[in-house]
Amino acid sequence: MSHLSEFDPEISNAIENEINRQRNGLEMIASENLVSRAVLEALGSPLTNKYSEGYPGKRYYSGNEFIDNVENLAINRAKELFGAEHANMQPHAGSQANMAAYFAMAEPGDKIMAMNLAHGGHLTHGSPVNFSGKLFNIVPYGVQQDTHLIDMNEVRDIALREKPVVILAGHTAYPRTLDFEKFRQIADEVGAYLMVDMAHFAGLVAGKAHPDPFLWADVITTTTHKTLRGPRGAVIFSKIEDRIHPEDKKNLAKKIDFAIFPFMQGGPLDHVIAAKAVAFKEALHPSFEQYAEQIIVNAQALAESLMNNGVDLVSRGTDNHLVLADLTKTGLAGKQGETLLDSVGIYTNKNMVPFDQRKPMDPSGLRIGTPALTTRGFTEDELKQVGEMIAHTLHNPNQNDILEGVRKKVEAMTQAHPLYDGWSYETPE
Ligand SMILES: Cc1ncc(COP(=O)(O)O)c(C=O)c1O
Repeated sequence: MSHLSEFDPEISNAIENEINRQRNGLEMIASENLVSRAVLEALGSPLTNKYSEGYPGKRYYSGNEFIDNVENLAINRAKELFGAEHANMQPHAGSQANMAAYFAMAEPGDKIMAMNLAHGGHLTHGSPVNFSGKLFNIVPYGVQQDTHLIDMNEVRDIALREKPVVILAGHTAYPRTLDFEKFRQIADEVGAYLMVDMAHFAGLVAGKAHPDPFLWADVITTTTHKTLRGPRGAVIFSKIEDRIHPEDKKNLAKKIDFAIFPFMQGGPLDHVIAAKAVAFKEALHPSFEQYAEQIIVNAQALAESLMNNGVDLVSRGTDNHLVLADLTKTGLAGKQGETLLDSVGIYTNKNMVPFDQRKPMDPSGLRIGTPALTTRGFTEDELKQVGEMIAHTLHNPNQNDILEGVRKKVEAMTQAHPLYDGWSYETPE
């Protein structure tokens, strides 16, 4: 018996059930991944006990020499991984990272230009129900109706007209890469900061399989738990110099640090920072480049297979880790598709497609990603089969024999790629 199963069988059973769900299903939610046992060990460590408000060498509490070591290791590894000048390890999550980044560069009411949520932007990029939409004056840009691609000429026109303080490049559901150089030119033309939110594609950048935003952006935020395959959390990277306000006493790096602590957060999550450091060490290993490339190869095999089997894709393919399916022609809404796939053990999420005719809570699309399956060792031949299984399921929502066949295939595939093998709360220590 583990300590947990002995003391709290209800929680231990719930965790065991969740581990088994992860083992026995195909996890294809594009923002999720499966971390290593090493990352999990760091997360479950007594570092959670420590209070360490402040930054390494400048803490508000005593007893932080080992915590300083952990945070410095995380910072140095992250800087090495991305070639960054400055890294703040303390944001609890991607939303906090974005909030701090905005406050480091803008005042409430200032204009921030970001991708339209209905075209692939994130909640924190200006949703009216989110702090971003309430505190800042958000100017959206979107994709073209015929190509589903961002038109950089239109981005430039909007920027010249609106003169935003910050231009944000980044997305949560856009299957293509971004032209960071062009974004930089436009930002320079209007005197704006360029911010990149690479939460979704950070692992691809780390693995050199995606254009590099570090060559162009002033500030880069990322979550650590998506393609980067680390613990739930976030990082803010920045240049040291503030090229928009060089006269300020605080440089950009100091503004970022101040915006996290003391402006937005109290004590950092030291156990999570340790787990981030472990994940960066994994990403610094040469094999991570193969991993990143395989995520994309797998996504492209999935895209081909879905399209060959009658499922429409936004922009007709992908350059990254996700595809965005438009289910309109299948006769299903995104939510129905998500529920149906869930019933056969394939996890995806409903999503708006550009120019969606349906409502945000009941949209037409389905977002499907390959980071977690790639972590399990799935290759392109298997993703081709997964594409067929998804298409088959979506085209036959009421055919129980077909759905049962897909369920069996999911079972066989997950057994061929074991996850957290041998880990059970019921195993004697
Ligand atoms: C692009 C982007 N930025 C920020 C976030 C927010 O991250 P979190 O859920 O950790 O707050 C997400 C989460 O999905 C995201 O996709």
